[in-house]
Amino acid sequence: MSEKLWGGRFSKTTDEMINEFQASIGFDRRMYREDIAGSLAHAAMLAKVGILSEDDRAAIEQGLRDILAQIERGEFAFSVELEDIHMNIEKRLTDAIGEAGSRLHTARSRNDQVALDTHMFVRHAVVDVLDHIREIQHALVESAAANKDVIMPGYTHLQRAQPILFAHHLMAYFGMLARDFERFQGVYARTDIMPLGAGALAGTTLPIDRAFVAKRLNFERIYTNSLDAVSDRDYILEFLSAASILMVHLSRLSEEIILWCSREFSFVELDDAHCTGSSMMPQKKNPDVSELVRGKTGRVVGHLMAMLTAVKGLPLAYNKDLQEDKEGLFDTIDTVKFSLAVYAQLIRGMKVRADVMRHAVEADFSNATDLADYLVRKGMPFRQAHSVSGQAVARCIERKIWLADLPLADYQKLSALFDEDVYEAIRPETCVAYRNSYGGTSYEQADMQLEAARELMTEEHKIISTLTGKQQLL
Ligand code: ARG
Repeated sequence: MSEKLWGGRFSKTTDEMINEFQASIGFDRRMYREDIAGSLAHAAMLAKVGILSEDDRAAIEQGLRDILAQIERGEFAFSVELEDIHMNIEKRLTDAIGEAGSRLHTARSRNDQVALDTHMFVRHAVVDVLDHIREIQHALVESAAANKDVIMPGYTHLQRAQPILFAHHLMAYFGMLARDFERFQGVYARTDIMPLGAGALAGTTLPIDRAFVAKRLNFERIYTNSLDAVSDRDYILEFLSAASILMVHLSRLSEEIILWCSREFSFVELDDAHCTGSSMMPQKKNPDVSELVRGKTGRVVGHLMAMLTAVKGLPLAYNKDLQEDKEGLFDTIDTVKFSLAVYAQLIRGMKVRADVMRHAVEADFSNATDLADYLVRKGMPFRQAHSVSGQAVARCIERKIWLADLPLADYQKLSALFDEDVYEAIRPETCVAYRNSYGGTSYEQADMQLEAARELMTEEHKIISTLTGKQQLL
C-alpha cells in the first residue's frame, strides 16, 4: 500500500517524475490561509451537525492553528510527495493530533476544497486590486487638479486635433479605471459563492450544513448544483478578463507617457527615481516603468487565453486540467497589483511641461474647428463654415503662418462675417472654455469631473472597507 492519503487501492508508489509533474504544492502553497480557514469552518460545521465530537473539533482547531503559525514562521516543510496544499496540511495535522485529524476530510473532497480555497483567494485579491485602482485614481485626480489650467493638443490619428485640458486627458483614464473598479466589484459578486459541500461531484450522504459554512466564511451565496460548484472556473476567467482590460488601460496610458517623454513631444518629465539609464549612452533616461507595464499586459492577456483554452473542452466535473488555473491567476494578481502600485507613484512624480504643451497648441491648426464654430455662431451653415475655415488654413500654410497670424483683411476676403473678435475666439483658452457641453473639455466641466471623481472615490473607499472586513477569516 502506498503512503499517500489516497493510497488504499494502490500497490505501487507513484513514479518520482510523475509525482513532481502532478504536484501543485510549488504554487498552491500560497493558499494556506484560505485552506486553513476553510478547514476550520468545515470542522465547526461537522461538529455542529454531530459528525465530529467537540473534543475532536477543538483538537483540529488547535492543530490547524499550530500549522498556520509554523507556515508563517517559515518552519513548515512542504512535501511534493503530498501533492498539494490540501494534503500537506491534512497529513501534518493527522501526524500531530492523530485520529481526530483523519476525521477532518469527512464529507469533503479536494475538488470542493480547492474550489473553496480559490474562491476565497480570488475574493481577497479582488479587494486588493480595488484598493490599488483607487490609489491610482487618486494620483490622477491630484495631477489633474494640480495642472488644472494646462492646455495641450488633443489628438485623433495621432495628429493634433483640438485643444483640450491636460486634466481632461488624465480624467479620461480615471473614467476607465472607474469602470475597472465596477468590473472587479462584479467579479467579487460572482466569486462570492460557496462551493464546499459539493463533495467530489455529487454532494454527500452525510447531513452537512452548507449554509453554516457559507455564513462562517462570509459567502453571500451557495452553489445550488454540486457539479457546477466543482467545475466552475468562471470567476477565474472573469478575474483574468477584468485584469486584462485593466492592463490594457494601463498599457494605453503607458504608450502615451512613453510618447510624451520623447524629445519629439517633451510634454512631461518623469522623476529620475522612476527611470533608468543606458550602460552605453550617457544621455539616456528611459521610461522603463511604462514600457514594462505595456509589456506585462501581453502576459496577463496570455493568462486569460490560456485559461479559456484550458476550460473550453472539459467535460463535467473535476478534471486535473483545472489545476492549471492557479499559476496564471497568481501571476496576474501579482502583475496587476505591482503595475498599479508603481503607476500611482509614476503619476505622482510626473512633471508636466505646460509651456511645451501650449506651444504645441499654438504652433498648429488645432483651432480650425473653433474658427468654423465662430462662423456658425454668426449664422453660417456648418458645412460652409468648415470649408471657409479650411481655406483659411490653406492660406496660412502657403504663407507659413498660423490662424492667429492671418490678417483680418484676409479673413474678410473669405467671409464678411469675420470681425476683430475672431482672434479671441481662436485663442487656446477660448477654444477650451467654449467646449462646455456636458463631458466636454471646458474648465467648468473639468471642475465638475473632479468633484464627481472625489465623490466616487469616497464611495469606493466605503466599498473597499466593507469588503476588507469580510476577508478576516482566521
Ligand atoms: N491540486 C488540485 C488542484 O489544484 C486539487 C484538487 C485535486 N483533486 C483531485 N481529485 N486530484 O486542482
